[in-house]
Amino acid sequence: MSSERSGEQVELQVGDEVLKVRSGERLIDICEHHLTCLTFSCRSASCGTCAIVVEQGMENLSPMDGLEAIVVEEVSEGRPNVRLACQVRVLGSACVRPLS
Ligand code: FES
Repeated sequence: MSSERSGEQVELQVGDEVLKVRSGERLIDICEHHLTCLTFSCRSASCGTCAIVVEQGMENLSPMDGLEAIVVEEVSEGRPNVRLACQVRVLGSACVRPLS
């Protein structure tokens, strides 16, 4: 569980880009606004295009629900620490990269 509170500024690295963001924001919204390398489509945990690998800070992301877990199982091909950017809220500092 993150010790940082909602609305506080945290550091998020997406690929080679390091961003200062407010905790509580959805990762997909952050990426859309900052034009990072991440692609996405449905925004509803069905297409899997927004899959990411969490390299650091998994404990600082919102928990995975059942729908996200089903899609992650399909797209991760057994790779660990995979999440869907459209389902993740950033609660503290983290480092992620696109899955593909
Ligand atoms: S954008 Fe489709 S699963 Fe995230």
